[in-house]
Amino acid sequence: MKVGIIGSGGREHAICESLNKSDKIDKIYCFPGNAGTQTIAENINIDVENFEKLKNFTIDNKIDFLIVGPEKPLVNGIVDYLEEHDIKVFGPNKLASQLEGSKIFTKKLCEKFNIPTAKFGIFLNIEEAGKFLNKCSYPIVIKADGLAAGKGVYISETFNDAKLAIKEIFDGKFGEAKQLLIEEFLDGEEMSFFIISDGKNFKQFGTAQDHKRALEGDKGKNTGGMGAYSPSRLENQNLNNKIIKRIIEPTFEGLKKSNTSFKGFLYAGLMIKNNEPYLIEYNVRMGDPECQTLLPKLKTDFGLIINSCIEGRLSDLEIDWYNDKSLCVVLCSNGYPDKYEKNVEIILDKLILKENEFLFHAGTKSIDKKIFSNGGRVLNIVIKSKEFKDARDKALNILKEIDWTNGFYRKDIAYKVIDE
Ligand code: AMP
Ligand code: GLY
Repeated sequence: MKVGIIGSGGREHAICESLNKSDKIDKIYCFPGNAGTQTIAENINIDVENFEKLKNFTIDNKIDFLIVGPEKPLVNGIVDYLEEHDIKVFGPNKLASQLEGSKIFTKKLCEKFNIPTAKFGIFLNIEEAGKFLNKCSYPIVIKADGLAAGKGVYISETFNDAKLAIKEIFDGKFGEAKQLLIEEFLDGEEMSFFIISDGKNFKQFGTAQDHKRALEGDKGKNTGGMGAYSPSRLENQNLNNKIIKRIIEPTFEGLKKSNTSFKGFLYAGLMIKNNEPYLIEYNVRMGDPECQTLLPKLKTDFGLIINSCIEGRLSDLEIDWYNDKSLCVVLCSNGYPDKYEKNVEIILDKLILKENEFLFHAGTKSIDKKIFSNGGRVLNIVIKSKEFKDARDKALNILKEIDWTNGFYRKDIAYKVIDE
């Protein structure tokens, strides 16, 4: 079969690598891809938002199905558009993608179906929101409604911080804002919980924990993710059952009542407190870098899994995993997540990876067989091992070997599960 991957990050390179090992897949295209995907797929320079060009290329090249990596085209309705043109695609439709596209949509669904989540209010203007702040206890969480590349969430410690957050959101920092969310601050430990669904049935697809902050000790600015490990230390069967029964099933039930269903990866961002789960947010795709830690642990043929989902036969399939741990450290350009330089060469020729060691490219491009940086997050080093400590030691040794002086990385990924 021929498959096309939409996206250009570490997540998409990891997806390409898994498909490359699949007995079902003969040819992979990546739109637009990176220097890593280029070694196993054909990179096609079409923008992920140009649905028409993607459609035409898919038809002209007889691609059997597409997989959509990032959220933006999903929220903008790429799946609806492609399916209208009889193209098979793995990812949720526009309505189901509102789970990520509108935090208020998800909160209303939680309210209607009694899904455990932080208490919240929806506010339509600065005055109303401001009045409410007088009655709050702090910290309080303030959120822009729509997609904001992970930046539209403020944890405000004081009344003045909260007022500023409200002003910034209504002033349009994350696009035009007609409403915003104010939420109770939940104390606990976060966990990323993954589901794969064919629109009729779903299965669990592992857990992970990412590190969003730029600096060690989970300090500094929020980023797309500086590293991750899998599984989460919180995972247990009793908690899994609660998450499925109280959060996932009512969500899918809610979508059914709106005459739609969810096909694709669903990523629940949860807060766990005393083994009780609360939904913080949904993402309608795989996490990045969580995906890079999950896929190397997959035993079952990934191409077979996705094809089964596309054909609505996921329930027939058993998904098996290696009983290993995995850990990812992300190498970023100096300055990320603010201003950083691009087009800096990275020399990887001498790097020799052993079994269970993986290099997934993110913001890279290849020119005349040389590799250059092309984004904030540049490379992902992933290690599969019996122990997190061994995984991290190996990842850090590889990064030392790469010795890219234009970049930085966190040396403390997974500190909660590693005794120093
Ligand atoms: P979100 O984009 O909604 O996942 O929020 C980004 C991050 O903000 C989350 O990963 C949490 O660390 C934090 N966060 C969001 N909502 C809450 C909440 N109600 N209580 C505590 N932390 C939160
Ligand atoms: N690692 C966080 C995300 O993919 O949204």
